[in-house]
Amino acid sequence: MDCSAIACAAALLLLLLLLRPCESDDRIVPGKPLSPGATVVSEDGSFALGFFAPAGSTPAKLYLGIWYNDIPELTVVWVANRDAPITNTTSPAPTLSLAAAGTSDLVLSDADGRAVWTTNVAGAPGTPAAPATGVAAVLLNNGDLVIRSPNGTTLWQSFEHPADTLLPGMKIRVRYRTRAGERLVSWKGPGDPSPGSFSFGADPDRVIQLFLWNWTRPVMRSAPWTGYMVAGQYQANTSLVYVVFVSTEEEMYLTYSLSDGAPHTRYVLTYSGEYQLQSWNGSEAAWSVLGEWPAGSCSRYGHCGANGYCDGTGGAVPACKCLDGFEPASAEEWSGGSFSRGCRRKEAPRCGDGFLALPGMKSPDGFRRVGNRTLEECAAECRRNCSCVAYAYADLRLSSSASTGDVTRCLVWAGELIDTVKMGDVTGSDTLYLRIAGLRAGERAKTNVLKIALPAVLTCSLLLLAGISLARFKFKGKIGNGKRRKKLIWGVMGSELGETNPGQEFVLFRFDDVVAATCNFSEAYKIGQGGFGKVYMGMLGGQEVAIKRLSKNSEQGNEEFRNEVILIAKLQHRNLVRLLGCSVEGDEKILIYEYLPNKSLDAILFDNSRKMMLDWPARFNIIKGVARGLLYLHHDSRLTIIHRDLKAANVLLDAEMRPKIADFGMARIFSDCQIKANTQRVVGTYGYMAPEYAMEGVFSIKSDVYSFGVLLLEIIFGTRRSSMGGIIGFPNLIAYVWSMWMEGNTKDLVDSSIMDSCLLDEVLLCSHIALLCVQEYPEDRPVMSYIVNALDNGSTTLPSPNRPAYFAQRGNEIEQVRNDIQNSVGTFTLTNIEGR
Ligand SMILES: *[C@@H]1O[C@H](CO)[C@@H](O)[C@H](O)[C@H]1NC(C)=O
Ligand SMILES: *[C@@H]1O[C@H](CO)[C@@H](O)[C@H](O)[C@H]1NC(C)=O
Ligand SMILES: *[C@@H]1O[C@H](CO)[C@@H](O)[C@H](O)[C@H]1NC(C)=O
Ligand SMILES: *[C@@H]1O[C@H](CO)[C@@H](O)[C@H](O)[C@H]1NC(C)=O
Ligand SMILES: *[C@@H]1O[C@H](CO)[C@@H](O)[C@H](O)[C@H]1NC(C)=O
Ligand SMILES: *[C@@H]1O[C@H](CO)[C@@H](O)[C@H](O)[C@H]1NC(C)=O
Ligand SMILES: *[C@@H]1O[C@H](CO)[C@@H](O)[C@H](O)[C@H]1NC(C)=O
Ligand SMILES: *[C@@H]1O[C@H](CO)[C@@H](O)[C@H](O)[C@H]1NC(C)=O
Ligand SMILES: *[C@@H]1O[C@H](CO)[C@@H](O)[C@H](O)[C@H]1NC(C)=O
Ligand SMILES: *[C@@H]1O[C@H](CO)[C@@H](O)[C@H](O)[C@H]1NC(C)=O
Repeated sequence: MDCSAIACAAALLLLLLLLRPCESDDRIVPGKPLSPGATVVSEDGSFALGFFAPAGSTPAKLYLGIWYNDIPELTVVWVANRDAPITNTTSPAPTLSLAAAGTSDLVLSDADGRAVWTTNVAGAPGTPAAPATGVAAVLLNNGDLVIRSPNGTTLWQSFEHPADTLLPGMKIRVRYRTRAGERLVSWKGPGDPSPGSFSFGADPDRVIQLFLWNWTRPVMRSAPWTGYMVAGQYQANTSLVYVVFVSTEEEMYLTYSLSDGAPHTRYVLTYSGEYQLQSWNGSEAAWSVLGEWPAGSCSRYGHCGANGYCDGTGGAVPACKCLDGFEPASAEEWSGGSFSRGCRRKEAPRCGDGFLALPGMKSPDGFRRVGNRTLEECAAECRRNCSCVAYAYADLRLSSSASTGDVTRCLVWAGELIDTVKMGDVTGSDTLYLRIAGLRAGERAKTNVLKIALPAVLTCSLLLLAGISLARFKFKGKIGNGKRRKKLIWGVMGSELGETNPGQEFVLFRFDDVVAATCNFSEAYKIGQGGFGKVYMGMLGGQEVAIKRLSKNSEQGNEEFRNEVILIAKLQHRNLVRLLGCSVEGDEKILIYEYLPNKSLDAILFDNSRKMMLDWPARFNIIKGVARGLLYLHHDSRLTIIHRDLKAANVLLDAEMRPKIADFGMARIFSDCQIKANTQRVVGTYGYMAPEYAMEGVFSIKSDVYSFGVLLLEIIFGTRRSSMGGIIGFPNLIAYVWSMWMEGNTKDLVDSSIMDSCLLDEVLLCSHIALLCVQEYPEDRPVMSYIVNALDNGSTTLPSPNRPAYFAQRGNEIEQVRNDIQNSVGTFTLTNIEGR
């Protein structure tokens, strides 16, 4: 190691540092004040700190400010002495000095030596009054002017005292305890940095929303924070701006960052009250405006008056409407386009009245936030307080930003609802639960929480700004009219629906909300084609749902249909896919189900690369779960439901691989022959059908038991019922298993992919049960309670199965297979599991 070389290099470096001209230094140190004409420049040359005189001020008024150093147009992003300009004099000259007054402060003095502005570090709590030797004021590359103590602690920074500009990395925040935080304040005029009338910042009263004010009057308000990032990103050709809300135990703030290589980009509150996103266009040598707010009447605070809402989803022109249960206070003024008087109640709600769910809303202003509640507790909070007219709920853990402390957000409203907007299914929208006179409490809005994931599918089109987002769906016209929709809602919510169980909640969704959620049933949202229609995924009421659009030939009337659906929705079991609601309008009949991301059993079970995920314990759990779900349908629910189309494709899996039966209750919605036509049309379903049903159309719970037996064999053997044909000379899986059973070779059947974890007794038990289920005569087949019991207790006293009803399918013919399979037995085994 050559120490002298290092010493030499260090000396050279020191020399270079000393030789750097004062103008390009990035800091102010004690004893070296800054005067007009000189600047402090950030290390990378992006920003400069110095004195400037706004164009057109005569005699020149001087301000201390920070501007972009590497663009020709003087663009000031921060001003120190906004209230106290100083006169331009040369000798003596005004100065900016550090630690001059015996503190660690920056002090701006005019020519007479009077301090016109100071950072007031000493006044800040917990900071030392005494000057620290080695203190420095550094202009960082991001435009932040920072006073640093010798040990590197930040004593003060300009980012915490913003002017009219939000630079990347700056925060707009409110501290929960003090309710204090930063605000952008506009300039008074184009050449006048003194504070203007407009400001932008977080709401000191309610913290979790942002406002743009004109003096004290709100001009624009963001939606109350739901825990999501602000709708993702704003993309322009050359810049990509990521905006985030972050909540910690102490504070909530908004901030943003730029993608690498983006040009200078900033949010600025202009002197005329617009919040703009601007980006520097090098080739034009000018600022281009990428976004500007308020944008459109829906973003103007309270545009539609008290209890009205602005519908921004309906088309090019946003429309003012009254919330459900309200009517215009003055019909004439309303129809004349004057909405300031808002809407009034048609009928005052009573305490026992229920709630109507309005998904996709920007929740109104004026809420009270109740801490630490589950959704159920939040609903109860509003329900029991007679002055509560609405509530909304969010789980802040859903945020991708850090969120600590109370992670729930329960908002309740009393009195008038101001500044409600219908946004459609935009990330960050709320479902607003509105108390409606005449709704029965038992039929109150659904309050179950499903796991909400960030939407995989993006909304049709998305406008973003820092905290205010509003979707505009480019739909030409409305489907149906308001009157009819209203009638439907009243019809269901207030109808004479048998028993009501407090745990069971059901939502009638508006058809336009469903259209918006699926982008008018676009292919991009389609996730499947079920027996009775296409299935889409979408966000409704802030949760991911599966949306089943029934093919239009259900012969039932709408009223009948709804009543059936409501009955079916009351069937709730952990092994059944939950029916959350429906939407009926004209010919359209839509069922809304919980969304299960892991898809159906067949997609895993019959896929050679994925079936490994299902070891035997997982399969055995699936078998038991399906059995319990079917037992519930057959015996334990209030209605006896025969599924009629049980198959692997109708068993969905949740994230923990627990099975949930889908598509039950179709028999109540569709007529018999429609069901039969449907199940025959769908490939693969045919083999699940009991012979008495396939051939004679006779259906009973025992036909479902038959289908369950087939499903059981498929799960055990990891093979489609039909795929054995042509491979080994057996017409199908049932025939093959039966022959092995007769030979006493069942243990050789087990699917190789589950062999490692195989518990032979369980496999044999399941095979035995399966063969009992697929017996030819329905009266021989066990009922589901017997099966569930045998699966749970591992009974060893099961009867011997009789010959199964297996039949080959050639073309469309059904042909009973004769008992002539003995010849081909023994030529094929799936695995050998000797000695286990
Ligand atoms: C201040 O006045 C001097 C001399 O009159 C002039 O050179 C300088 O440009 C002025 N400074 C500013 C910031 O206008
Ligand atoms: C750094 O110095 C400041 C005072 O200048 C003091 O308050 C702070 O505790 C010091 N921090 C560390 C880590 O030494
Ligand atoms: C701001 O408020 C002032 C007075 O209150 C009013 O004259 C002006 O029109 C308002 N400006 C905007 C953009 O709302
Ligand atoms: C968009 O950006 C690319 C590369 O960044 C550039 O080549 C193209 O000209 C830009 N387009 C427009 C319309 O500015
Ligand atoms: C700059 O502005 C010109 C003209 O408006 C436009 O064509 C070009 O795409 C812009 N460049 C960037 C990088 O935005
Ligand atoms: C009922 O709601 C009102 C308005 O939000 C509130 O002031 C009052 O304290 C609530 N009452 C109870 C008992 O919670
Ligand atoms: C929320 O309430 C539960 C009980 O309802 C309590 O155990 C928990 O500590 C509370 N959490 C917070 C953050 O207040
Ligand atoms: C949805 O699409 C259908 C045709 O696919 C069209 O007739 C209808 O007008 C569309 N609805 C909306 C609201 O755009
Ligand atoms: C099922 O969901 C879990 C959790 O979302 C995931 O980790 C797993 O990969 C999924 N399995 C399949 C087969 O999709
Ligand atoms: C199975 O176990 C349950 C609970 O232990 C018991 O009630 C039931 O009688 C058992 N059935 C048989 C057949 O052993």
